[in-house]
Amino acid sequence: MKLYLDTASVSEIKEIASWGILDGVTTNPSLMAKEKGDYKKILKEICDIVKGPVSGEVISLKKDEMIKEARDLSKISEHVVIKIPCTVDGLRATKALSGEGIRVNMTLVFSPNQAILAAKSGAAFISPFVGRLDDIGNSGVLVVKEILAIVNYYNFDTQLIFASVRHPEHVRQAALIGVHIATIPYKVFIQLVNHPLTDVGIERFLKDWESR
Ligand code: E4P
Repeated sequence: MKLYLDTASVSEIKEIASWGILDGVTTNPSLMAKEKGDYKKILKEICDIVKGPVSGEVISLKKDEMIKEARDLSKISEHVVIKIPCTVDGLRATKALSGEGIRVNMTLVFSPNQAILAAKSGAAFISPFVGRLDDIGNSGVLVVKEILAIVNYYNFDTQLIFASVRHPEHVRQAALIGVHIATIPYKVFIQLVNHPLTDVGIERFLKDWESR
Protein backbone atom coordinates (compact mmCIF):
# COMPACT_ATOMS: atom_id res chain seq x y z
CA MET A 1 0.00 0.00 0.00
CA LYS A 2 1.28 3.43 -0.88
CA LEU A 3 1.21 6.08 1.83
CA TYR A 4 0.32 9.67 1.02
CA LEU A 5 0.24 12.60 3.40
CA ASP A 6 -2.99 14.62 3.44
CA THR A 7 -1.77 18.15 4.03
CA ALA A 8 -0.52 21.31 2.35
CA SER A 9 1.94 22.08 5.13
CA VAL A 10 5.51 22.07 3.79
CA SER A 11 6.97 21.48 7.26
CA GLU A 12 4.75 18.43 7.83
CA ILE A 13 5.67 17.10 4.39
CA LYS A 14 9.38 17.60 5.03
CA GLU A 15 9.10 15.72 8.32
CA ILE A 16 7.27 12.66 6.95
CA ALA A 17 9.34 12.62 3.72
CA SER A 18 12.46 12.42 5.91
CA TRP A 19 11.20 9.05 7.23
CA GLY A 20 11.73 7.63 3.74
CA ILE A 21 8.27 6.07 3.43
CA LEU A 22 6.26 8.85 1.75
CA ASP A 23 4.85 8.10 -1.72
CA GLY A 24 2.73 11.18 -2.41
CA VAL A 25 0.65 14.07 -1.07
CA THR A 26 -2.97 15.14 -1.35
CA THR A 27 -4.14 18.69 -0.77
CA ASN A 28 -7.56 20.27 -1.02
CA PRO A 29 -8.84 23.87 -0.87
CA SER A 30 -9.47 23.68 2.90
CA LEU A 31 -5.92 22.44 3.56
CA MET A 32 -4.43 25.03 1.19
CA ALA A 33 -6.41 27.82 2.89
CA LYS A 34 -4.51 27.13 6.13
CA GLU A 35 -1.15 27.89 4.47
CA LYS A 36 0.32 31.34 3.85
CA GLY A 37 1.79 32.21 0.44
CA ASP A 38 1.18 31.64 -3.24
CA TYR A 39 -0.78 28.45 -4.00
CA LYS A 40 1.26 27.51 -7.06
CA LYS A 41 4.59 28.12 -5.33
CA ILE A 42 3.51 25.90 -2.44
CA LEU A 43 2.47 23.13 -4.85
CA LYS A 44 5.82 23.40 -6.63
CA GLU A 45 7.72 23.19 -3.36
CA ILE A 46 5.69 20.13 -2.31
CA CYS A 47 6.38 18.43 -5.67
CA ASP A 48 10.11 19.08 -5.35
CA ILE A 49 10.16 17.47 -1.89
CA VAL A 50 7.94 14.47 -2.61
CA LYS A 51 8.89 13.62 -6.21
CA GLY A 52 5.71 11.53 -6.37
CA PRO A 53 2.05 12.29 -7.12
CA VAL A 54 0.85 15.55 -5.53
CA SER A 55 -2.85 16.35 -5.84
CA GLY A 56 -3.94 19.96 -6.23
CA GLU A 57 -7.64 20.72 -6.53
CA VAL A 58 -9.48 22.94 -9.01
CA ILE A 59 -11.84 25.58 -7.63
CA SER A 60 -14.00 26.02 -10.74
CA LEU A 61 -17.22 24.08 -11.08
CA LYS A 62 -17.77 24.37 -14.84
CA LYS A 63 -16.11 21.97 -17.26
CA ASP A 64 -14.26 24.50 -19.41
CA GLU A 65 -12.91 26.45 -16.43
CA MET A 66 -11.91 23.22 -14.70
CA ILE A 67 -9.94 22.19 -17.78
CA LYS A 68 -8.25 25.60 -17.97
CA GLU A 69 -7.30 25.50 -14.28
CA ALA A 70 -6.10 21.91 -14.61
CA ARG A 71 -3.87 22.65 -17.59
CA ASP A 72 -2.41 25.60 -15.72
CA LEU A 73 -1.72 23.58 -12.55
CA SER A 74 -0.24 20.66 -14.47
CA LYS A 75 2.46 22.98 -15.85
CA ILE A 76 3.85 23.40 -12.31
CA SER A 77 5.46 19.95 -12.23
CA GLU A 78 5.24 16.50 -13.79
CA HIS A 79 4.17 15.30 -10.32
CA VAL A 80 0.97 17.37 -10.15
CA VAL A 81 -2.28 15.40 -10.23
CA ILE A 82 -5.50 17.36 -10.69
CA LYS A 83 -8.21 16.84 -8.12
CA ILE A 84 -11.68 17.23 -9.61
CA PRO A 85 -14.97 16.71 -7.74
CA CYS A 86 -17.34 13.97 -8.85
CA THR A 87 -20.00 16.00 -10.67
CA VAL A 88 -21.28 15.93 -14.25
CA ASP A 89 -18.93 18.77 -15.19
CA GLY A 90 -16.19 17.01 -13.27
CA LEU A 91 -16.69 13.84 -15.32
CA ARG A 92 -16.68 15.82 -18.58
CA ALA A 93 -13.48 17.61 -17.58
CA THR A 94 -11.85 14.36 -16.46
CA LYS A 95 -12.62 12.69 -19.78
CA ALA A 96 -11.04 15.59 -21.67
CA LEU A 97 -8.01 15.89 -19.39
CA SER A 98 -7.25 12.17 -19.27
CA GLY A 99 -7.32 12.23 -23.07
CA GLU A 100 -4.56 14.85 -22.93
CA GLY A 101 -2.49 12.71 -20.56
CA ILE A 102 -3.25 14.86 -17.50
CA ARG A 103 -3.79 12.66 -14.45
CA VAL A 104 -6.99 13.29 -12.50
CA ASN A 105 -7.80 12.35 -8.92
CA MET A 106 -11.60 12.27 -8.76
CA THR A 107 -12.46 13.53 -5.33
CA LEU A 108 -15.51 13.69 -3.06
CA VAL A 109 -16.54 10.18 -4.06
CA PHE A 110 -19.04 8.59 -1.67
CA SER A 111 -20.54 5.62 -3.54
CA PRO A 112 -19.57 2.71 -5.79
CA ASN A 113 -21.74 4.18 -8.58
CA GLN A 114 -19.83 7.46 -8.51
CA ALA A 115 -16.61 5.45 -8.62
CA ILE A 116 -17.75 3.52 -11.72
CA LEU A 117 -18.35 6.82 -13.53
CA ALA A 118 -15.01 8.20 -12.34
CA ALA A 119 -13.17 5.10 -13.60
CA LYS A 120 -14.94 5.22 -16.95
CA SER A 121 -14.08 8.90 -17.39
CA GLY A 122 -10.40 7.99 -17.15
CA ALA A 123 -9.57 9.19 -13.63
CA ALA A 124 -6.11 7.90 -12.70
CA PHE A 125 -7.06 8.04 -9.00
CA ILE A 126 -10.40 7.85 -7.19
CA SER A 127 -10.79 9.18 -3.66
CA PRO A 128 -13.66 7.80 -1.57
CA PHE A 129 -13.92 9.82 1.68
CA VAL A 130 -14.18 7.19 4.41
CA GLY A 131 -14.26 9.44 7.50
CA ARG A 132 -17.02 11.66 6.13
CA LEU A 133 -19.15 8.57 5.36
CA ASP A 134 -18.55 7.27 8.89
CA ASP A 135 -19.55 10.72 10.21
CA ILE A 136 -23.06 10.33 8.77
CA GLY A 137 -23.47 6.79 10.07
CA ASN A 138 -22.45 4.87 6.93
CA SER A 139 -19.57 2.42 6.70
CA GLY A 140 -16.86 4.16 4.72
CA VAL A 141 -14.72 1.02 4.70
CA LEU A 142 -17.53 -1.04 3.19
CA VAL A 143 -17.94 1.52 0.41
CA VAL A 144 -14.20 1.37 -0.40
CA LYS A 145 -14.29 -2.44 -0.29
CA GLU A 146 -17.11 -2.49 -2.85
CA ILE A 147 -15.36 0.05 -5.08
CA LEU A 148 -12.17 -2.00 -4.95
CA ALA A 149 -14.06 -5.17 -5.95
CA ILE A 150 -15.57 -3.33 -8.93
CA VAL A 151 -12.21 -1.86 -10.00
CA ASN A 152 -10.60 -5.30 -9.83
CA TYR A 153 -13.53 -7.12 -11.46
CA TYR A 154 -13.47 -4.87 -14.52
CA ASN A 155 -9.74 -4.28 -14.42
CA PHE A 156 -10.22 -0.50 -14.45
CA ASP A 157 -6.93 1.33 -14.89
CA THR A 158 -7.23 3.47 -11.77
CA GLN A 159 -5.89 3.57 -8.21
CA LEU A 160 -8.10 3.94 -5.16
CA ILE A 161 -7.13 6.44 -2.51
CA PHE A 162 -8.61 5.67 0.93
CA ALA A 163 -9.24 9.31 1.92
CA SER A 164 -10.63 11.21 4.90
CA VAL A 165 -8.63 9.06 7.32
CA ARG A 166 -9.45 9.90 10.92
CA HIS A 167 -7.40 7.44 13.00
CA PRO A 168 -4.83 4.58 12.78
CA GLU A 169 -7.62 2.00 12.64
CA HIS A 170 -8.60 3.38 9.22
CA VAL A 171 -5.05 2.74 7.96
CA ARG A 172 -5.16 -0.86 9.20
CA GLN A 173 -8.54 -1.38 7.53
CA ALA A 174 -7.27 0.16 4.27
CA ALA A 175 -4.32 -2.24 4.22
CA LEU A 176 -6.48 -5.27 5.02
CA ILE A 177 -8.85 -4.68 2.13
CA GLY A 178 -5.91 -4.19 -0.23
CA VAL A 179 -6.58 -0.61 -1.27
CA HIS A 180 -3.81 0.91 -3.43
CA ILE A 181 -3.20 4.09 -1.42
CA ALA A 182 -4.14 5.63 1.93
CA THR A 183 -3.85 9.39 2.34
CA ILE A 184 -3.19 10.12 5.97
CA PRO A 185 -3.21 13.36 8.01
CA TYR A 186 0.03 14.27 9.82
CA LYS A 187 -1.43 13.60 13.26
CA VAL A 188 -2.39 10.04 12.28
CA PHE A 189 1.05 9.40 10.71
CA ILE A 190 2.60 10.17 14.10
CA GLN A 191 0.11 7.85 15.80
CA LEU A 192 1.10 5.04 13.41
CA VAL A 193 4.71 4.91 14.56
CA ASN A 194 4.17 5.27 18.28
CA HIS A 195 3.39 2.39 20.61
CA PRO A 196 3.67 2.51 24.43
CA LEU A 197 5.29 -0.96 24.50
CA THR A 198 8.02 0.26 22.11
CA ASP A 199 8.81 3.10 24.56
CA VAL A 200 8.77 0.77 27.57
CA GLY A 201 10.93 -1.72 25.67
CA ILE A 202 13.57 0.88 24.78
CA GLU A 203 13.63 2.18 28.34
CA ARG A 204 14.12 -1.35 29.73
CA PHE A 205 16.85 -2.26 27.21
CA LEU A 206 18.79 0.94 28.00
CA LYS A 207 18.44 0.42 31.77
CA ASP A 208 19.71 -3.18 31.46
CA TRP A 209 22.55 -2.03 29.25
CA GLU A 210 23.63 0.64 31.75
CA SER A 211 23.64 -1.90 34.65
CA ARG A 212 26.09 -4.10 32.75
C1 E4P B 1 -8.44 13.66 0.43
O1 E4P B 1 -7.86 13.77 -0.62
C2 E4P B 1 -8.96 14.79 1.23
O2 E4P B 1 -8.04 15.86 1.17
C3 E4P B 1 -9.12 14.45 2.67
O3 E4P B 1 -8.78 13.13 2.95
C4 E4P B 1 -10.37 14.95 3.29
O4 E4P B 1 -10.39 14.57 4.64
P1 E4P B 1 -11.36 15.21 5.71
O5 E4P B 1 -12.70 14.56 5.57
O6 E4P B 1 -10.72 14.88 7.02
O7 E4P B 1 -11.41 16.69 5.43
